[in-house]
Amino acid sequence: PVSPCLMLHSDISRFKHESMSRFAEYIFFHYVHQRPPPWSDTLPTLHVITPTYGRPVQKAELTRLTNTLLHVPNLHWLVVEDSVQRTALVSRLLENTGLNYTHLNVETPENLKTQKKPRNVRFPRGTMQRNLALRWLREHINPNSSHKGVVYFADDDNTYSLELFEEMRWTLKVSVWPVAFTGGLLYESPKINTQGKVFGWKTVFDPRRPFAIDMAGFAVNLQLILSKPQACFKLKGVKGGYQESSLLQGLVTLSDLEPKAANCTKILVWHTRTERPLLVNEGKKGFTSGSMEV
Ligand SMILES: *[C@@H]1O[C@H](CO)[C@@H](O)[C@H](O)[C@H]1NC(C)=O
Repeated sequence: PVSPCLMLHSDISRFKHESMSRFAEYIFFHYVHQRPPPWSDTLPTLHVITPTYGRPVQKAELTRLTNTLLHVPNLHWLVVEDSVQRTALVSRLLENTGLNYTHLNVETPENLKTQKKPRNVRFPRGTMQRNLALRWLREHINPNSSHKGVVYFADDDNTYSLELFEEMRWTLKVSVWPVAFTGGLLYESPKINTQGKVFGWKTVFDPRRPFAIDMAGFAVNLQLILSKPQACFKLKGVKGGYQESSLLQGLVTLSDLEPKAANCTKILVWHTRTERPLLVNEGKKGFTSGSMEV
């Protein structure tokens, strides 16, 4: 049953004679699908970049992220699939969100995924996808326009506090904050001095990295992205944990960083990851129908 708090008087009279399920459908359509979050001409736009790839929990993860983003005003979601073409599953999901979105795809070439690499050199998932989204922004937004914005890389396996989006909204260059459940710790964080400036990194794994920060731990001013067209994630020869540095080094120095989340004393994002479901019975006795979208 629909909560009476959601009902408008006109809704109630309109559906007096209809079943509750029809009413629930109406509520769903009008309060979610027909209701993109409010748009304001004065708030900077948050361009949220999400690389994604096909796997059993993909739709669940994207659904959870959608339900978060629906609460965020002035948001543009750039979803980039690692696939030969945009899939029906993601296309339908995005159409039904009511969000402002751009749907892109680029397949990571097999040789990049599987090539034999020197120890500690990895090809992190999502690299080409994030770069394609950066290219889209550079090609579609005029740097001379007064368009104010911020770019954030939001993977589909994290949990995001709504506060986080308001913390990053007024980023001047690059803002930073702690991320929970990364680097084998409860959380990793920038180290902040008494002047409120970043002077290092609270991490166990290689704290000497130029920017020892998780992908979910920073946001970049859109104008900075547009004014430094060479800055992107490096595809090759990037040691594990250096992916974020490969972008940030092209954009800022340590002294430019703006600590958020109360000088990095609050956790507003968690790298939760979803447990990979056990599917040992799939395929047995004719289970499961291939036509079911999960
Ligand atoms: C962060 O620290 C600086 C320097 O100590 C201080 O001036 C500022 O008010 C602090 N900001 C917050 C949000 O706590």
